[in-house]
Formats: sequence, C-alpha cells, structure tokens
Amino acid sequence: MDSIRIVGGKPLSGTVAVSGSKNAALPILCSSLLADGESTFRNVPDLRDIGTTAALLRHMGLGVDVAPPLVTVRNTGITATDAPYELVRQMRASVLVLGPLVARFGRARVSLPGGCAIGARPIDQHLKGLTAMGAKVELDHGYVDVVVPSGRLRGADFRFDVNTVTGTENLMCAAALARGRTTLANAAREPEIEELAHVLNKMGARVEGAGTDTIVIEGRDALSPVDHAIIADRIEAGTFMVAAAATGGNVLVDNVEPEHLTAVIRKLRQAGVAVEREGRGVRVAGKPPFVPTDITTAPHPGFPTDMQAQLMVLMCLAEGVSTITEMIFENRFMHVSELNRMGASIDVDGRSARVTGHAKLQGASVMATDLRASASLVIAGLVAEGETRVLRVYHIDRGYERIEKKLSGLGADVERIKGDG
Ligand code: EPZ
Repeated sequence: MDSIRIVGGKPLSGTVAVSGSKNAALPILCSSLLADGESTFRNVPDLRDIGTTAALLRHMGLGVDVAPPLVTVRNTGITATDAPYELVRQMRASVLVLGPLVARFGRARVSLPGGCAIGARPIDQHLKGLTAMGAKVELDHGYVDVVVPSGRLRGADFRFDVNTVTGTENLMCAAALARGRTTLANAAREPEIEELAHVLNKMGARVEGAGTDTIVIEGRDALSPVDHAIIADRIEAGTFMVAAAATGGNVLVDNVEPEHLTAVIRKLRQAGVAVEREGRGVRVAGKPPFVPTDITTAPHPGFPTDMQAQLMVLMCLAEGVSTITEMIFENRFMHVSELNRMGASIDVDGRSARVTGHAKLQGASVMATDLRASASLVIAGLVAEGETRVLRVYHIDRGYERIEKKLSGLGADVERIKGDG
C-alpha cells in the first residue's frame, strides 16, 4: 500500500484543473444499463471507483472501455443481474445498479452494502421506493433479492423519510422505465442528481424537478444510449480551495461550477478567505489566522458533509473556537484523533466537534480512515512544520485523481511512496 510524504510550510500557488465528478460519474455509468447500444462518457475521472464500476458492468455482460477521461459502454444484452459481494464491499456505490437493473430486467440480486467507517448507511429508502413501485424485496444471505412480479415497475408517489442522494438516483433510474408517472417527494437536491436527470433526459426519459425536493418522472418504454461529458467534481474543487487558503497561498482552481459550492464559498469568505470567480474557475487566496466559523453539515444546498473534514483543518488555524456539527453521518470524525496527533486541539462531543484554533501543526505519520478524512490529513500535512506521512492512501485514490501530482504542480513538496503504507 502506498503512502504520501509531505513536507509542509509552502504556500500553494498557480492553477489546478479540477477533474470530472466521481459522485456524478458513478450513477451515470450505472444508468447505461437502461439502454441498449453504445454510450460514451467524457471527462470521467481516473479513479479506483470508476474501475470498480466498470468491473461491475462487465460482470453483467456489458463491454466497458476505460481510457480516462473517456469511458465507452457497449450494452448488447446482459448476462447477469447480480452485484457480487466481492465488488460491493469495495465500493458501496455499487448499489446504484439496483434501480437500473430492476427497471430494465424486472429483477436484481445485490449484495447488501454493510456499514462503513463513517456510518451504518442503510439502503432502506431505496428498497422502500422500489416496493412502492411494485417490486418484491427479500433479504437472502447478505443479498437483497428484488423481483417485479408483474415484470415491469409501475409509477408511484413516494416520499423519502430521509434525504438520500443515491436513493434518489436509484429511484430516478427505476422510474425512467416504469409504467406511468412517479413523484419523488423530499428528494435530495445535489448537483449530481441534476446531472443524472440531464443524462436520463438525453437518453429519452422525462424527468422534471431535479434539483428541487420534488422530482416527477414520466416512465418510457425504452431509452437510448448517450454521449455525455461529466460535470466537474465540486468536492475536489472545494478541497483545493481549502488547501490554497490553509497554506497561505493564492491559487486559481480551474474548471469549477461556483454555483455547486455556494455553501462552501460562503463559509470560506466568513472565515476571511478571498474567493473570486475568474474565467471558468475561482481564485482563492487566504492567510492564517482565519475567523472562527461554525459549520453544520446538511443536504444540498446546505454545507456538504464531504467538505467537513477539510474545513476542520482550516478552523484549526483560526483565532478562536469554532464548532463543527456533523448532521449527515453518525461517525464522521475519524480524522480528529489524527489531527490532534499533529498538534490540533479538537474535542468531540457526540455530533459536534469543538475546534480551538491557533494550532501549530507538526508533521507526523497519520492513518487515513476514509476518503475525505484522508484529504484533511493531506491538507494538514501541507500546513504542518516538518514531514508528514499519510498512510493507507488507497482511500484518497478512490476520490482524488493524482492528488500528489496536482499539489506538486502548485509548488507543494509532496510525493507518493510506493508500497510504504
Ligand atoms: C452520497 O452517499 C455520496 N456518495 C457521499 O459521498 C455523500 O457523503 C453522501 O451522499 C451525502 O452527501 C455518492 O454519491 C456515491 P445518503 P449516499 O444516502 O447516497 C441515511 C464521498 O466522500 N440513509 O445521502 O450513500 C444515511 O445513513 C461520499 O464521496 C438512510 O437512513 O448518502 C445517511 O445518514 C461519502 N436510509 C443519510 O441518510 C437510506 O436508505 C444520507 O445518506 C439511505 C440513506
């Protein structure tokens, strides 16, 4: 396993281009199950999760060529409708094949994704929605077996009990081929959901209201393949914006949709960071100490939970105390103990972390526990005095394309150490 070695203390400067969005690409690649023919996806990030998704689709009999940023999917008929444990345990988002499979083939057998480092993460809402559309769901030896007795899903009015991103995406795909109209109430509103709706409509579906909390889908008998370029990754962009400010740098984060980051930009400005739109990106400049800023994570357009760990590092460099409250996942403070080992002063009490600023971060060997926690440790390493080793960087490779190359392009002293993690 690789590790990343960082010598901190260098302000980042220059331009970094943001890659395509992981959390938009995954549901979109899975939606290619809905239509026969060849689909072409552009601006696809070169990430481990894309490889896992390709393996999943190949397991079902699709032809998939992955040559990032281009991915081609040929659907000439599938040979399997199951998502095996071996693949699902590598990537929870494998559950995104559920909606397309049940909608297209009237059945699916998907390994139930267990919990992960950040929480229990059940899929009850996905299954409840499919049941409302006429499916029968059974748990069988760690798998969910879903069958549509009538052979085809029917449209339904469904209200989510909790706001769920992949739940909304799964039911949008399911409804796209159902008989009749489906209304999804209390739906998630993330930009990745608008992007999936955009792709489904390019495939011939009729999805309206994506981006609001009520989505209406008129089912179609058949859909067509698509050629689509994936939106930029707002969380990767946000991560570089925080890294620029935390190191006292000045960086143009290019190929960003600022509208996808309003809550993050608002908090950065509140903390005293300069964020200005520039061309197809945003210029970010900042210098510690920052203004203490309280943050509470929430579904979009609220503050994204996927940026919580990164902002926490910035608040370690504030002149005073900030409170960070994690409302989406019950166990998303795994980075705190590692940051405290680097000299931060963070106390966790249930869903809230009290961050006392003025930290003099020191380089150390630290362990990544999940994707965004590892991003926060990399940022802390860029700020810290001396050398930091971030171990288990396979977490970061799931969601950041060549992060060490992009950071060294901004003047950071960072490198990947092969087989050292
Ligand atoms: C998506 O996960 C993202 N993953 C996550 O990003 C992100 O953190 C999350 O949305 C929230 O924004 C992808 O898009 C692939 P949820 P998802 O269902 O859909 C509860 C990253 O770092 N819930 O919106 O799995 C659940 O337990 C990843 O890139 C139920 O109770 O998250 C959680 O507390 C990490 N029942 C809350 O809802 C359900 O059926 C939100 O989860 C579904 C969810």
